[in-house]
Amino acid sequence: MTSQPSPFGTTMLVTGGAGFIGSNFVRLATQRYPELRIIVLDALTYAGNADNLAGLDSNVELVVGRIEDEGNVDKLAAKADAIVHFAAESHNDNSLRDPSPFVHTNLVGTFTLLEAVRKHGNRFHHVSTDEVFGDLTLDDPARFTEETPYRPSSPYSATKAGSDHLVRAWVRSFGINATISNCSNNYGPYQHIEKFIPRQITNLLTGRPAKLYGDGANVRDWIHVDDHNDAVLAILERGRPGETYNIGANGEHSNKEVIELICELMGGTYKHVADRPGHDRRYAMDASKLRGELGWTPHYGQDFRAGLEQTVAWYRTNEAWWCGHKEAVEQGYRAQAQ
Ligand code: NAD
Ligand code: TYD
Repeated sequence: MTSQPSPFGTTMLVTGGAGFIGSNFVRLATQRYPELRIIVLDALTYAGNADNLAGLDSNVELVVGRIEDEGNVDKLAAKADAIVHFAAESHNDNSLRDPSPFVHTNLVGTFTLLEAVRKHGNRFHHVSTDEVFGDLTLDDPARFTEETPYRPSSPYSATKAGSDHLVRAWVRSFGINATISNCSNNYGPYQHIEKFIPRQITNLLTGRPAKLYGDGANVRDWIHVDDHNDAVLAILERGRPGETYNIGANGEHSNKEVIELICELMGGTYKHVADRPGHDRRYAMDASKLRGELGWTPHYGQDFRAGLEQTVAWYRTNEAWWCGHKEAVEQGYRAQAQ
Protein backbone atom coordinates (compact mmCIF):
# COMPACT_ATOMS: atom_id res chain seq x y z
CA MET A 1 0.00 0.00 0.00
CA THR A 2 1.29 3.48 -0.90
CA SER A 3 0.34 6.42 1.29
CA GLN A 4 0.76 9.28 -1.17
CA PRO A 5 -1.54 12.34 -1.05
CA SER A 6 -4.27 12.14 -3.66
CA PRO A 7 -3.56 14.27 -6.77
CA PHE A 8 -7.28 15.01 -7.04
CA GLY A 9 -7.86 16.67 -3.66
CA THR A 10 -9.10 15.48 -0.29
CA THR A 11 -12.76 14.64 -0.99
CA MET A 12 -14.16 12.55 -3.83
CA LEU A 13 -17.82 12.03 -4.70
CA VAL A 14 -18.39 8.59 -6.25
CA THR A 15 -21.79 8.10 -7.87
CA GLY A 16 -23.01 4.51 -8.09
CA GLY A 17 -20.38 3.52 -5.53
CA ALA A 18 -22.60 0.79 -4.06
CA GLY A 19 -22.80 -1.05 -7.39
CA PHE A 20 -20.42 -3.58 -8.91
CA ILE A 21 -17.63 -1.49 -10.44
CA GLY A 22 -18.17 1.53 -8.17
CA SER A 23 -17.80 -0.44 -4.92
CA ASN A 24 -14.65 -2.14 -6.21
CA PHE A 25 -13.38 1.33 -7.17
CA VAL A 26 -14.03 2.71 -3.67
CA ARG A 27 -12.11 -0.23 -2.18
CA LEU A 28 -9.13 0.30 -4.53
CA ALA A 29 -9.09 4.11 -4.09
CA THR A 30 -9.14 3.88 -0.28
CA GLN A 31 -6.29 1.34 -0.39
CA ARG A 32 -4.19 3.59 -2.61
CA TYR A 33 -5.09 6.85 -0.86
CA PRO A 34 -5.87 6.10 2.80
CA GLU A 35 -6.31 9.83 3.55
CA LEU A 36 -8.93 10.34 0.85
CA ARG A 37 -12.50 11.02 2.03
CA ILE A 38 -15.09 9.39 -0.22
CA ILE A 39 -18.77 10.25 -0.37
CA VAL A 40 -20.78 7.61 -2.23
CA LEU A 41 -24.03 8.84 -3.79
CA ASP A 42 -26.14 5.84 -4.69
CA ALA A 43 -29.90 5.31 -5.05
CA LEU A 44 -29.56 1.66 -3.96
CA THR A 45 -31.67 0.44 -6.87
CA TYR A 46 -32.01 -3.33 -7.30
CA ALA A 47 -28.35 -3.23 -8.49
CA GLY A 48 -26.92 -1.32 -5.52
CA ASN A 49 -26.16 -2.84 -2.15
CA ALA A 50 -24.86 -1.04 0.94
CA ASP A 51 -23.16 -4.30 1.98
CA ASN A 52 -20.82 -3.89 -1.01
CA LEU A 53 -19.10 -1.20 1.06
CA ALA A 54 -18.96 -3.23 4.28
CA GLY A 55 -15.60 -3.24 6.02
CA LEU A 56 -14.48 0.07 4.52
CA ASP A 57 -13.20 2.58 7.02
CA SER A 58 -14.77 5.72 8.40
CA ASN A 59 -13.44 7.78 5.48
CA VAL A 60 -16.27 6.38 3.33
CA GLU A 61 -19.80 7.78 3.74
CA LEU A 62 -22.86 6.45 1.88
CA VAL A 63 -25.54 8.99 0.95
CA VAL A 64 -28.66 7.30 -0.42
CA GLY A 65 -30.12 9.42 -3.20
CA ARG A 66 -30.59 9.82 -6.93
CA ILE A 67 -28.22 11.60 -9.28
CA GLU A 68 -31.22 13.34 -10.86
CA ASP A 69 -31.92 15.08 -7.51
CA GLU A 70 -30.55 18.53 -8.30
CA GLY A 71 -30.61 19.89 -4.73
CA ASN A 72 -28.79 16.93 -3.23
CA VAL A 73 -26.25 16.72 -6.06
CA ASP A 74 -25.50 20.43 -5.73
CA LYS A 75 -24.95 20.08 -1.97
CA LEU A 76 -22.60 17.11 -2.39
CA ALA A 77 -20.69 18.61 -5.33
CA ALA A 78 -20.01 21.67 -3.17
CA LYS A 79 -18.12 19.40 -0.73
CA ALA A 80 -16.14 17.43 -3.31
CA ASP A 81 -12.89 18.15 -5.19
CA ALA A 82 -13.39 15.34 -7.71
CA ILE A 83 -16.45 13.44 -8.92
CA VAL A 84 -16.22 9.96 -10.42
CA HIS A 85 -19.47 9.02 -12.13
CA PHE A 86 -20.34 5.30 -12.22
CA ALA A 87 -24.09 5.48 -11.49
CA ALA A 88 -26.16 4.10 -14.34
CA GLU A 89 -28.81 1.67 -15.32
CA SER A 90 -26.39 -0.87 -16.72
CA HIS A 91 -28.10 -4.00 -18.05
CA ASN A 92 -28.97 -4.40 -21.74
CA ASP A 93 -31.67 -7.02 -21.16
CA ASN A 94 -33.47 -4.69 -18.71
CA SER A 95 -33.27 -1.84 -21.21
CA LEU A 96 -35.17 -4.02 -23.69
CA ARG A 97 -37.90 -4.68 -21.08
CA ASP A 98 -38.25 -1.00 -20.01
CA PRO A 99 -36.01 1.76 -21.38
CA SER A 100 -37.50 4.51 -19.20
CA PRO A 101 -35.16 4.29 -16.15
CA PHE A 102 -32.21 4.30 -18.56
CA VAL A 103 -33.24 7.66 -19.98
CA HIS A 104 -33.78 9.14 -16.52
CA THR A 105 -30.61 7.92 -14.84
CA ASN A 106 -28.13 7.81 -17.70
CA LEU A 107 -29.17 11.03 -19.45
CA VAL A 108 -30.98 13.27 -16.93
CA GLY A 109 -28.72 12.07 -14.09
CA THR A 110 -25.53 12.83 -16.02
CA PHE A 111 -26.92 16.23 -17.06
CA THR A 112 -27.69 17.04 -13.40
CA LEU A 113 -24.13 16.17 -12.37
CA LEU A 114 -22.64 18.23 -15.20
CA GLU A 115 -24.62 21.30 -14.15
CA ALA A 116 -23.28 20.92 -10.60
CA VAL A 117 -19.72 20.52 -11.96
CA ARG A 118 -20.17 23.69 -14.04
CA LYS A 119 -21.12 25.55 -10.88
CA HIS A 120 -18.56 24.10 -8.45
CA GLY A 121 -15.58 23.48 -10.78
CA ASN A 122 -14.98 19.85 -9.77
CA ARG A 123 -12.60 17.51 -11.60
CA PHE A 124 -15.08 15.11 -13.29
CA HIS A 125 -14.54 11.61 -14.63
CA HIS A 126 -17.31 9.90 -16.58
CA VAL A 127 -17.30 6.09 -16.71
CA SER A 128 -18.70 4.72 -19.96
CA THR A 129 -18.75 1.63 -22.11
CA ASP A 130 -17.45 0.23 -25.40
CA GLU A 131 -21.08 -0.45 -26.36
CA VAL A 132 -21.47 3.15 -27.56
CA PHE A 133 -19.55 2.09 -30.70
CA GLY A 134 -22.08 -0.56 -31.73
CA ASP A 135 -20.60 -3.87 -32.82
CA LEU A 136 -17.95 -5.38 -35.10
CA THR A 137 -18.30 -8.43 -37.30
CA LEU A 138 -16.59 -11.58 -36.05
CA ASP A 139 -13.86 -11.43 -38.72
CA ASP A 140 -13.30 -7.65 -38.67
CA PRO A 141 -9.58 -6.98 -38.06
CA ALA A 142 -10.49 -3.60 -36.52
CA ARG A 143 -10.91 -2.79 -32.84
CA PHE A 144 -12.71 0.24 -31.40
CA THR A 145 -10.49 3.31 -31.00
CA GLU A 146 -11.30 6.70 -29.47
CA GLU A 147 -12.02 7.89 -33.05
CA THR A 148 -14.59 5.17 -33.90
CA PRO A 149 -17.98 6.77 -34.67
CA TYR A 150 -20.80 6.13 -32.20
CA ARG A 151 -23.41 3.60 -33.38
CA PRO A 152 -25.23 2.29 -30.28
CA SER A 153 -27.70 -0.59 -30.68
CA SER A 154 -29.76 -0.86 -27.48
CA PRO A 155 -31.57 1.62 -25.22
CA TYR A 156 -28.75 1.03 -22.69
CA SER A 157 -25.92 1.83 -25.10
CA ALA A 158 -27.86 4.72 -26.70
CA THR A 159 -28.32 6.43 -23.32
CA LYS A 160 -24.66 5.87 -22.43
CA ALA A 161 -23.69 7.34 -25.83
CA GLY A 162 -25.92 10.34 -25.09
CA SER A 163 -24.28 10.82 -21.69
CA ASP A 164 -20.80 10.81 -23.32
CA HIS A 165 -21.96 13.48 -25.77
CA LEU A 166 -23.26 15.61 -22.90
CA VAL A 167 -19.88 15.43 -21.14
CA ARG A 168 -18.02 16.44 -24.32
CA ALA A 169 -20.42 19.33 -24.92
CA TRP A 170 -19.91 20.59 -21.35
CA VAL A 171 -16.13 20.43 -21.87
CA ARG A 172 -16.30 22.35 -25.15
CA SER A 173 -19.06 24.83 -24.28
CA PHE A 174 -18.41 25.47 -20.61
CA GLY A 175 -14.77 24.43 -20.15
CA ILE A 176 -15.36 21.89 -17.38
CA ASN A 177 -12.36 19.74 -16.38
CA ALA A 178 -13.60 16.31 -17.43
CA THR A 179 -12.32 13.03 -18.81
CA ILE A 180 -14.22 10.03 -20.18
CA SER A 181 -13.34 6.34 -20.26
CA ASN A 182 -15.02 3.68 -22.38
CA CYS A 183 -14.36 0.20 -21.05
CA SER A 184 -15.08 -3.30 -22.27
CA ASN A 185 -17.05 -5.99 -20.38
CA ASN A 186 -16.06 -6.31 -16.71
CA TYR A 187 -16.12 -9.38 -14.49
CA GLY A 188 -15.16 -10.02 -10.87
CA PRO A 189 -16.55 -9.97 -7.31
CA TYR A 190 -19.78 -8.10 -6.48
CA GLN A 191 -21.20 -8.21 -10.03
CA HIS A 192 -24.99 -8.49 -10.07
CA ILE A 193 -26.12 -12.01 -10.94
CA GLU A 194 -28.24 -10.80 -13.86
CA LYS A 195 -25.00 -10.39 -15.87
CA PHE A 196 -23.54 -13.17 -18.02
CA ILE A 197 -20.65 -14.54 -15.94
CA PRO A 198 -22.18 -14.41 -12.42
CA ARG A 199 -25.50 -15.65 -13.80
CA GLN A 200 -23.82 -18.80 -15.09
CA ILE A 201 -21.73 -19.31 -11.94
CA THR A 202 -24.83 -19.04 -9.74
CA ASN A 203 -26.87 -21.19 -12.15
CA LEU A 204 -24.36 -23.98 -11.65
CA LEU A 205 -24.17 -23.40 -7.88
CA THR A 206 -27.98 -23.76 -7.65
CA GLY A 207 -28.22 -26.89 -9.82
CA ARG A 208 -29.45 -25.05 -12.95
CA PRO A 209 -27.76 -25.40 -16.35
CA ALA A 210 -25.81 -22.39 -17.62
CA LYS A 211 -27.71 -20.44 -20.33
CA LEU A 212 -26.10 -19.44 -23.64
CA TYR A 213 -27.93 -16.96 -25.88
CA GLY A 214 -28.27 -18.00 -29.53
CA ASP A 215 -25.28 -19.72 -31.11
CA GLY A 216 -22.86 -18.34 -28.51
CA ALA A 217 -20.48 -17.04 -31.17
CA ASN A 218 -20.86 -13.44 -29.91
CA VAL A 219 -17.54 -12.07 -28.68
CA ARG A 220 -16.95 -9.85 -25.65
CA ASP A 221 -13.61 -8.32 -24.61
CA TRP A 222 -13.32 -9.26 -20.92
CA ILE A 223 -11.43 -7.25 -18.31
CA HIS A 224 -11.17 -7.83 -14.57
CA VAL A 225 -12.90 -5.09 -12.59
CA ASP A 226 -9.69 -4.25 -10.68
CA ASP A 227 -7.88 -3.62 -13.96
CA HIS A 228 -10.70 -1.31 -15.10
CA ASN A 229 -10.57 0.65 -11.84
CA ASP A 230 -6.79 0.86 -11.89
CA ALA A 231 -7.13 2.47 -15.33
CA VAL A 232 -9.74 4.94 -14.01
CA LEU A 233 -7.30 5.94 -11.26
CA ALA A 234 -4.52 6.34 -13.84
CA ILE A 235 -6.75 8.70 -15.84
CA LEU A 236 -7.64 10.68 -12.70
CA GLU A 237 -3.96 10.87 -11.76
CA ARG A 238 -2.38 11.55 -15.14
CA GLY A 239 -5.07 11.91 -17.82
CA ARG A 240 -5.25 15.03 -19.95
CA PRO A 241 -8.31 17.25 -19.38
CA GLY A 242 -11.02 16.85 -22.00
CA GLU A 243 -9.65 13.53 -23.28
CA THR A 244 -11.33 10.18 -23.78
CA TYR A 245 -9.48 6.92 -23.09
CA ASN A 246 -10.51 3.41 -24.18
CA ILE A 247 -9.93 0.72 -21.54
CA GLY A 248 -9.49 -2.94 -22.46
CA ALA A 249 -7.16 -5.85 -21.75
CA ASN A 250 -7.19 -7.75 -25.08
CA GLY A 251 -9.49 -10.33 -23.50
CA GLU A 252 -11.64 -11.36 -26.47
CA HIS A 253 -13.57 -14.61 -26.00
CA SER A 254 -16.78 -15.95 -27.52
CA ASN A 255 -19.63 -16.50 -25.07
CA LYS A 256 -19.39 -20.21 -25.88
CA GLU A 257 -15.72 -20.29 -24.84
CA VAL A 258 -16.54 -18.47 -21.61
CA ILE A 259 -19.45 -20.71 -20.67
CA GLU A 260 -17.42 -23.84 -21.48
CA LEU A 261 -14.59 -22.59 -19.27
CA ILE A 262 -17.02 -21.89 -16.40
CA CYS A 263 -18.52 -25.38 -16.84
CA GLU A 264 -15.02 -26.90 -16.85
CA LEU A 265 -13.93 -25.00 -13.72
CA MET A 266 -17.12 -25.80 -11.82
CA GLY A 267 -18.21 -29.12 -13.35
CA GLY A 268 -21.54 -28.40 -15.05
CA THR A 269 -23.46 -28.20 -18.29
CA TYR A 270 -25.06 -25.46 -20.37
CA LYS A 271 -27.97 -25.16 -22.78
CA HIS A 272 -28.73 -22.83 -25.67
CA VAL A 273 -31.66 -20.45 -25.10
CA ALA A 274 -33.39 -17.83 -27.28
CA ASP A 275 -31.12 -15.04 -28.47
CA ARG A 276 -31.32 -11.41 -27.26
CA PRO A 277 -33.07 -9.13 -29.80
CA GLY A 278 -30.55 -6.87 -31.59
CA HIS A 279 -27.69 -8.81 -29.96
CA ASP A 280 -24.35 -7.09 -30.66
CA ARG A 281 -21.99 -9.55 -32.37
CA ARG A 282 -18.55 -8.49 -31.21
CA TYR A 283 -16.83 -5.83 -29.11
CA ALA A 284 -13.05 -5.32 -29.14
CA MET A 285 -11.15 -2.43 -27.60
CA ASP A 286 -7.91 -0.79 -28.70
CA ALA A 287 -6.47 0.64 -25.47
CA SER A 288 -3.14 1.74 -26.96
CA LYS A 289 -3.73 5.43 -26.12
CA LEU A 290 -4.16 4.59 -22.43
CA ARG A 291 -1.16 2.25 -22.45
CA GLY A 292 1.10 4.62 -24.41
CA GLU A 293 0.16 7.93 -22.81
CA LEU A 294 -0.41 6.88 -19.22
CA GLY A 295 1.77 3.76 -19.03
CA TRP A 296 -1.15 1.62 -17.83
CA THR A 297 -0.99 -2.17 -18.07
CA PRO A 298 -3.55 -4.66 -16.78
CA HIS A 299 -2.57 -6.88 -13.86
CA TYR A 300 -4.77 -9.83 -14.87
CA GLY A 301 -4.05 -9.10 -18.53
CA GLN A 302 -4.90 -12.07 -20.64
CA ASP A 303 -4.91 -14.55 -17.75
CA PHE A 304 -8.66 -14.81 -18.00
CA ARG A 305 -8.68 -18.29 -16.47
CA ALA A 306 -7.04 -17.03 -13.25
CA GLY A 307 -9.49 -14.12 -13.06
CA LEU A 308 -12.44 -16.45 -13.60
CA GLU A 309 -11.16 -18.88 -10.94
CA GLN A 310 -10.94 -16.01 -8.44
CA THR A 311 -14.47 -14.88 -9.41
CA VAL A 312 -15.96 -18.39 -9.09
CA ALA A 313 -14.33 -18.70 -5.66
CA TRP A 314 -15.85 -15.38 -4.57
CA TYR A 315 -19.40 -16.43 -5.52
CA ARG A 316 -18.92 -19.81 -3.78
CA THR A 317 -17.72 -18.11 -0.59
CA ASN A 318 -20.30 -15.32 -0.65
CA GLU A 319 -23.50 -17.26 -1.29
CA ALA A 320 -25.41 -15.13 1.26
CA TRP A 321 -24.69 -12.06 -0.93
CA TRP A 322 -26.64 -13.44 -3.92
CA CYS A 323 -28.83 -16.43 -3.01
CA GLY A 324 -31.76 -14.33 -1.70
CA HIS A 325 -32.48 -12.85 -5.14
CA LYS A 326 -31.45 -15.68 -7.48
CA GLU A 327 -34.99 -16.97 -8.02
CA ALA A 328 -36.35 -13.45 -8.72
CA VAL A 329 -33.64 -12.82 -11.33
CA GLU A 330 -34.45 -16.11 -13.07
CA GLN A 331 -38.18 -15.33 -12.94
CA GLY A 332 -37.43 -12.01 -14.68
CA TYR A 333 -35.62 -13.86 -17.46
CA ARG A 334 -38.48 -16.38 -17.79
CA ALA A 335 -41.02 -13.54 -18.06
CA GLN A 336 -38.91 -11.86 -20.73
CA ALA A 337 -38.77 -15.08 -22.76
CA GLN A 338 -42.59 -15.29 -22.95
P1 NAD B 1 -24.29 -1.66 -11.57
O1 NAD B 1 -25.65 -1.76 -12.19
O2 NAD B 1 -23.71 -2.83 -10.86
O3 NAD B 1 -24.25 -0.43 -10.55
C1 NAD B 1 -24.90 0.78 -10.81
C2 NAD B 1 -25.02 1.52 -9.48
O4 NAD B 1 -25.66 2.80 -9.76
C3 NAD B 1 -25.91 0.80 -8.46
O5 NAD B 1 -25.32 0.84 -7.19
C4 NAD B 1 -27.22 1.61 -8.47
O6 NAD B 1 -27.90 1.59 -7.23
C5 NAD B 1 -26.70 3.00 -8.82
N1 NAD B 1 -27.73 3.82 -9.47
C6 NAD B 1 -28.54 3.48 -10.51
N2 NAD B 1 -29.35 4.50 -10.81
C7 NAD B 1 -29.04 5.52 -9.97
C8 NAD B 1 -29.52 6.85 -9.82
N3 NAD B 1 -30.49 7.33 -10.61
N4 NAD B 1 -28.95 7.62 -8.87
C9 NAD B 1 -27.96 7.14 -8.06
N5 NAD B 1 -27.49 5.88 -8.15
C10 NAD B 1 -28.02 5.09 -9.10
O7 NAD B 1 -23.35 -1.18 -12.77
P2 NAD B 1 -21.82 -1.47 -13.03
O8 NAD B 1 -21.68 -2.70 -13.84
O9 NAD B 1 -21.08 -1.33 -11.77
O10 NAD B 1 -21.46 -0.25 -14.00
C11 NAD B 1 -20.98 0.99 -13.47
C12 NAD B 1 -20.68 1.93 -14.62
O11 NAD B 1 -19.71 1.35 -15.49
C13 NAD B 1 -21.89 2.24 -15.51
O12 NAD B 1 -21.85 3.60 -15.85
C14 NAD B 1 -21.70 1.35 -16.73
O13 NAD B 1 -22.30 1.92 -17.87
C15 NAD B 1 -20.19 1.35 -16.83
N6 NAD B 1 -19.59 0.18 -17.48
C16 NAD B 1 -19.94 -1.09 -17.06
C17 NAD B 1 -19.35 -2.19 -17.66
C18 NAD B 1 -19.67 -3.61 -17.21
O14 NAD B 1 -19.18 -4.57 -17.82
N7 NAD B 1 -20.43 -3.81 -16.15
C19 NAD B 1 -18.40 -2.02 -18.69
C20 NAD B 1 -18.08 -0.70 -19.08
C21 NAD B 1 -18.67 0.37 -18.46
P1 TYD C 1 -24.01 -9.18 -20.44
O1 TYD C 1 -23.30 -9.62 -19.21
O2 TYD C 1 -25.47 -8.88 -20.34
O3 TYD C 1 -23.18 -7.92 -20.98
P2 TYD C 1 -23.36 -7.05 -22.36
O4 TYD C 1 -24.70 -7.26 -22.91
O5 TYD C 1 -23.22 -5.66 -21.80
O6 TYD C 1 -22.25 -7.46 -23.24
O7 TYD C 1 -23.83 -10.26 -21.57
C1 TYD C 1 -22.55 -10.64 -22.06
C2 TYD C 1 -22.76 -11.57 -23.23
O8 TYD C 1 -23.34 -12.79 -22.76
C3 TYD C 1 -23.75 -11.04 -24.27
O9 TYD C 1 -23.28 -11.40 -25.56
C4 TYD C 1 -25.04 -11.74 -23.97
C5 TYD C 1 -24.58 -13.09 -23.42
N1 TYD C 1 -25.44 -13.72 -22.39
C6 TYD C 1 -25.74 -15.09 -22.48
O10 TYD C 1 -25.32 -15.79 -23.45
N2 TYD C 1 -26.48 -15.68 -21.50
C7 TYD C 1 -26.97 -14.96 -20.44
O11 TYD C 1 -27.64 -15.54 -19.55
C8 TYD C 1 -26.66 -13.55 -20.35
C9 TYD C 1 -27.17 -12.72 -19.20
C10 TYD C 1 -25.88 -12.98 -21.35
